Amino acid sequence: MKGIVLAGGSGSRLHPATLAMNKQLLPVYDKPMIYYPVSVLMLAGIRDILIISTPDHLDDYVRLLGSGAQFGVDFSYAVQERPEGLAQAFVIGRDFVGSDDVALILGDNIFFGAGLVSLLDRASARRRGATIFAYAVEDAERYGVVSLTGEGKPLRIVEKPQAPQSPWAVTGLYFYDNRVLDIAAAVKPSARGELEITDVNNAYLALSELHVECMSRGYTWLDTGTHDSLLEAGEFVRTIQKRQGQLVASPEEIAFAKGFISRDQLHERGAELAKTAYGRSLLALAAEAR
Ligand code: TTP
Repeated sequence: MKGIVLAGGSGSRLHPATLAMNKQLLPVYDKPMIYYPVSVLMLAGIRDILIISTPDHLDDYVRLLGSGAQFGVDFSYAVQERPEGLAQAFVIGRDFVGSDDVALILGDNIFFGAGLVSLLDRASARRRGATIFAYAVEDAERYGVVSLTGEGKPLRIVEKPQAPQSPWAVTGLYFYDNRVLDIAAAVKPSARGELEITDVNNAYLALSELHVECMSRGYTWLDTGTHDSLLEAGEFVRTIQKRQGQLVASPEEIAFAKGFISRDQLHERGAELAKTAYGRSLLALAAEAR
């Protein structure tokens, strides 16, 4: 399975902080925002990852993430000329995906929770159809909203409804079989001029091949699109890390746990970052594994 991180956008709700900077490069406490979605793909066992960003900022991601060797993964890079919608990721990423299945994650989405790995395993084990993840929120009108039957089967998805029929927001993580390439290629721009991911998901729904995984209260899903939510996400990560003495969303730690990098590589990376608590945590993990 391939993975795509969509890390473009205009970040207009974070101006002026994002006038000269891409949103997903901003720190969420101790690491760049894009580490969080990259970590989720790696937890799902995905090692072939395409990073999509704006023409102005793609080079920043190449500088930050490079080949991916430090995380034991392979990064590829592609430009999205204008923020013309999430489904455009599959138009841009068509050659990269080739004949494989693919997971898409938005660069500003943060997921955390004990059951995350088994949830991801379930989605990636499905060979056919699409899997989306729903999270109950107070302000569902800001998102794509999925209505469900009593058995949890999806009935419909509506993009930013004025009067949401359910609290279940569709989060920025999606697993698709290879048909998504053709489905996305056939999507027409919406009234707001975007290729909507909701249209892709509704196409799978019409085929009765859309699976919805509801993330219950044991999970945290944070979006970092405004100044308040960005600061809150940073505070959340800081609180968990200080309390548990463990890193949230460290690609190096996940890479080591999954056998993508060796103990020596983990140690080396920790040594490079040894002026920080982040680096010292990696060194401690490497020492424990002796
Ligand atoms: P949004 O939060 O909808 O948009 P934005 O990041 O441009 O921010 P703002 O609303 O403040 O202007 O985007 C969600 C995520 O998807 C974010 O990580 C950016 C990314 N994105 C793209 O990379 N390309 C796109 O065409 C769109 C619509 C979003």
